Amino acid sequence: MTKKTVFILMLTTLLFACQKGKDSTEIKIDKLISEMTLDEKIGQMNQLTGMGLSDDMKEQLKNGRVGSILNEVDVNIINELQRIAVEESRLHIPLIFGRDVIHGYKTIFPIPLGQAASWDPKIAETGARIAAEEATSVGIRWTFAPMVDVSRDPRWGRIAESCGEDPYLTSVFGAAMVKGFQGDKLSDSNSMAACAKHFAGYGAAEAGKDYNTTWIPDVQLRDVYLPSFKAAVDAGAATFMCSFNDINGVPSSGNKYLNRDILRDEWKFDGMLVSDWGSIDQMISHGVSANLKNAAAKAIEAGVDMDMMALAYITHLKKLVEEGVISEKIIDESVRNILRVKFRLGLFENPNVKPDSNAFYKPEAIAAAKYAAEESAVLLKNNNLLPLGSSFKTVAVVGPLADAALEQFGTWSFDAEPAHAVTPLKAITDMYGKQYKIIGEPGLVFSRDSNATGITKAVAAAKKADVVLVFAGEEAILSGEAHCRADISLPGLQNQLISELKKTGKPIVLVIMAGRPLTIEKQINESNAVLYAFHGGTMAGPALADLIFGKVIPSGKLPVTIPRMVGQIPVYYAHKMTGRPGTNFVTIDKIPIGVFQTSLGNTSFHLDAGDKPLYPFGYGLSYSTFEYSKVKLSAKTMEKNGKITAECTVKNTGKFDAKEVVQLYVRDPVASLARPVRELKGFEKILLKAGESKTIKFEIDATQLGFWHEDKTYYAEPGEFQVWISKDSQSGEAVSFKLK
Ligand code: NOJ
Repeated sequence: MTKKTVFILMLTTLLFACQKGKDSTEIKIDKLISEMTLDEKIGQMNQLTGMGLSDDMKEQLKNGRVGSILNEVDVNIINELQRIAVEESRLHIPLIFGRDVIHGYKTIFPIPLGQAASWDPKIAETGARIAAEEATSVGIRWTFAPMVDVSRDPRWGRIAESCGEDPYLTSVFGAAMVKGFQGDKLSDSNSMAACAKHFAGYGAAEAGKDYNTTWIPDVQLRDVYLPSFKAAVDAGAATFMCSFNDINGVPSSGNKYLNRDILRDEWKFDGMLVSDWGSIDQMISHGVSANLKNAAAKAIEAGVDMDMMALAYITHLKKLVEEGVISEKIIDESVRNILRVKFRLGLFENPNVKPDSNAFYKPEAIAAAKYAAEESAVLLKNNNLLPLGSSFKTVAVVGPLADAALEQFGTWSFDAEPAHAVTPLKAITDMYGKQYKIIGEPGLVFSRDSNATGITKAVAAAKKADVVLVFAGEEAILSGEAHCRADISLPGLQNQLISELKKTGKPIVLVIMAGRPLTIEKQINESNAVLYAFHGGTMAGPALADLIFGKVIPSGKLPVTIPRMVGQIPVYYAHKMTGRPGTNFVTIDKIPIGVFQTSLGNTSFHLDAGDKPLYPFGYGLSYSTFEYSKVKLSAKTMEKNGKITAECTVKNTGKFDAKEVVQLYVRDPVASLARPVRELKGFEKILLKAGESKTIKFEIDATQLGFWHEDKTYYAEPGEFQVWISKDSQSGEAVSFKLK
């Protein structure tokens, strides 16, 4: 054997060994990439919105110029577009069809914020599963959900799409949704690739104004905004989406630190990263790129694999490679990420769908949507009025949301059909109309209605009734993307409606159907009972009817703080203590005239709002009552790598069998960086029969006690820790232990 032959033999063996280490998908991807022209590679990175079966689209598909289409929902068009891509393009690479299937496709579940109020991640998982089963039946194999942006600003319209203000609750719910969308196996024809969005910090938009700039120090980014994304990676999310905002001056679509250093290098994410809609070209408007070509270069360098609707890649990448600005290798990496998702979805084997006309509104989907809406409602107040007993013979059902099918879907319900929604008025009439006389009189036609003529009729109806149910809140259009509000009180004349109803002296049950926390202190004071129901989806009506009449006992807890006034924002439970915690508040009207400057005490509060919100995170009542025992710890000291158990006995001391969400909070009272006054670290939703007690145990280890330090290390600092097991983020008594 010549030296050359030996060398070739060795090289072949080495290559073979390397290939053996690779899984078969990677080998297929290698082969495909080796056959692709640069144009075809860039085509895979191009996502376009559906244009039906236009000649232009057909042509682009044949030429391999499109990798994905979003917003096409006609199964026949989807199948035909897919056929062209698979049969008529040179390399037969299938398309991936995407859509915002956020809280249901046809059967609509409560908005994500409402689902999070259930504190039951199984509900989110089931909701996502049902959404996937319905949406995949028309060929949508990629959803742009879950949105796992921690959201602490109720002015921000997208708080509706979030799981609220807490990193842990958001992580648990986001992971559950990923599991639900993706099912047991991504390649199953009824599984959809999930997309954790918006990476990252989008919820921190200044002033709660969508797309706005954010300024987030690294420790806060990692402690607050990133954990839910990491949880999505751990749950196997197939794709990620960049956020629109800039963080500290760098838009996410050009953010190498986020998309490469953290997502790829630290977290080892091997799925696909898509830009948000046009977010690559928006780098021009952000003021970091002079033109689309530069934006394209920035985005690919930052690791954005697919360009959603900016046409930046398809227009400029080839030239950028030819000019040597961008290497083809970096393009191959992105194409690899895209093809990997397509392979994982089984699209190469099964590109088409068999239309299934029975996929929507299955009885089990409807039942699950009703259950989700029941569990999502939070009872904020109850002066012995709910559940309504038989002494109330005549019930007035008023308010602009009482019979507004479209509005109860909430944001992101493109594919929902109002004819399938059951409104509160319809449900109450159908389900309870035999036992009670129901008088429906909306008072206002829609939530922003400023015409007072209907109010007189509603008052007249109230006068004839024994109790008034007011369904107030916001229309769906007032929350969601780009639908932010600076005034988050009830819109239109709803406040006037409630005041007029109050004057009748009839007991009032206020039901809020909204996409965000609203500032409704006065309206709560005017009501005898208040249920916060968010936008409850298709089955909001029957769920609320059963809650009001006591067939179902409320068990939701707030996933987000409700402020008293908009000026308190940002207001969230996990705040820092400050050097002068708020005490001895003096309300503005109690300040004596002409007093000395420092006589008010110089602590941290608002003269006109104190320092407490209206309702804290984790808060929610039941028709029953619960008593918590003192927390017991298994040890007073935790070893560095050890664990301790905290336990508490919860007793149902009321008359109803009911569910309670038991919450675990910790605090590190002395650390090198000031830490939040409490942080949620665990929770369990339990069912207790009337009179029954259960002992709930939580294991705590040092990883739960740690935080990010300025040198980018995460660890728990030795010393004292406080623990609460409580019914919300403000109650309970702390016990402490020491970490060695
Ligand atoms: C923009 C939104 O920010 C994003 O959440 C959504 O998925 C895309 N548009 C696609 O519709």
